[in-house]
Amino acid sequence: MKLDVNVLRYLSKEDFRVLTAVEMGQKNHEIVPMPLIDSISGLKHGGAFRCLKTLLQHKLVHHEGQKYDGYRLTYMGYDFLAIKALVARGHIAGVGRQIGVGKESDIFEVTNDEGEVFALKLHRLGRTSFRDVKSKRDYLGTRSNYSWLYLSRLAALKEFAFMKALGDHGFPVPVAIDNNRHAVLMELVDGQPLVQVRELAHPAAVYSAAMDLIARLAARGLIHCDFNEFNLLIDEEETLTLIDFPQMVSVSHPNAEELFDRDVECIIRFFNKKIGYMPQLDESLPSIRPSFQAAVAEAAAAGASGLDVELAASGFNKNHAKDLQAFLDGSEVQDDADDQAGSDSEEGCEDEDEDDSEPSSSDADAASDSGSEQLLDEAGDLPDAQAAAAAAAAARAARAAARQQQGGVDGEGSIAPSRAPTDISFMGREVQQRLVQQRQKAAARAVNLKASRNVSKAKDKKARKTASAMADW
Ligand SMILES: Nc1ncnc2c1ncn2[C@@H]1O[C@H](COP(=O)(O)OP(=O)(O)OP(=O)(O)O)[C@@H](O)[C@H]1O
Ligand SMILES: [Mg+2]
Repeated sequence: MKLDVNVLRYLSKEDFRVLTAVEMGQKNHEIVPMPLIDSISGLKHGGAFRCLKTLLQHKLVHHEGQKYDGYRLTYMGYDFLAIKALVARGHIAGVGRQIGVGKESDIFEVTNDEGEVFALKLHRLGRTSFRDVKSKRDYLGTRSNYSWLYLSRLAALKEFAFMKALGDHGFPVPVAIDNNRHAVLMELVDGQPLVQVRELAHPAAVYSAAMDLIARLAARGLIHCDFNEFNLLIDEEETLTLIDFPQMVSVSHPNAEELFDRDVECIIRFFNKKIGYMPQLDESLPSIRPSFQAAVAEAAAAGASGLDVELAASGFNKNHAKDLQAFLDGSEVQDDADDQAGSDSEEGCEDEDEDDSEPSSSDADAASDSGSEQLLDEAGDLPDAQAAAAAAAAARAARAAARQQQGGVDGEGSIAPSRAPTDISFMGREVQQRLVQQRQKAAARAVNLKASRNVSKAKDKKARKTASAMADW
């Protein structure tokens, strides 16, 4: 999907008001009916309908006319709301070229009024998690797309909170600047992903720096869980910067040690296979791989406080963490299944994504107002959480079924030839066991969800009330 920010210029205040009304309506409705959009936007004489025509034309909303008649946001519509809020806060003045296409995000260069350049990451959870067509159809056919928006918002919130905390504690991460909805604004790192490098002037030093980073994170109570050549940027001086944090977990996670070891093995495999540097043969290295137990014990002995305590106060709360983790665990199951089916390359610890640098530059100088966004932030997100939890559970169940069809799961293959690979196959089974429990929970949640629908009418009333508060837009 192309993010054509030129459109921002042509959208009126009323268009944004209606776009915001659709977002608000989606807190309780999968598809937002026209009367509710009318009521929330408060535009008279068919004004909302006229704006919807413009929004449809620019693909910012989608019209659903089959089962229900109504509208929902597209990812681009959500992008525009986030970008407009960041413009209103004075952090963005223009959106430039796309610099990264992650599995579940798009990254753009953006500028502020002073001409400084930053990176804007727009999370798109669900974009590639469901490579199996059937589970995709099952999922999307029955569940709200707002769940995706909600999960993407959680991923951004978590990423921003972790990036900020890690930066404050001296970890080499991009400086976290701002967060709105599914967007994270951060420092633009002057470097390239390690995966693009084939030769290093000082491979042992870079390898040691990576291992040290994994150990230091654990000593601060955290495991990255996606620590690999795709998520390490390297500059001219061969200094590393760590990116991409939505999947980080605490060292108190039940599979912490295996997740830690997996991060370590990913780096060993990359250096063996792609750089041609074999740490296991380098006698000058003080240690080849850090030990999880040692890192945790060292932290305990030093009385170092875990970052998880600080993160608890960041706005990314326990319920958010639970919702997001449920989704990420589900994705992991699917990724394992893909590995089994041979779709994963041997390139590294992830699929290799092509860096598509499609230019799309313009000034995003649309007039802005922050009132709408503030009101939206005030609106509770409990129904989103319920919908997302039930949706994630349904997706996991569908993926588990697809996985069974593929004939069971095993772990990844061997990593470093001269070493016993970390056995992560049991992790797959653990996840499977958890799936059974989660499916039971999902059934219970579905009952709750039904009950919550009964109160959604009352919530609509609340939304209308909020709408009257929006009169001073
Ligand atoms: N702060 C930044 N500065 C410069 N480039 C960045 C920055 N953040 C991300 N990128 C670029 O965007 C790419 C994808 O970023 P990131 O890993 O955060 O996204 P992702 O969706 O999680 O990707 P994946 O799922 O493939 O790991 C990176 O490989 C890098 O090239
Ligand atoms: Mg990444």
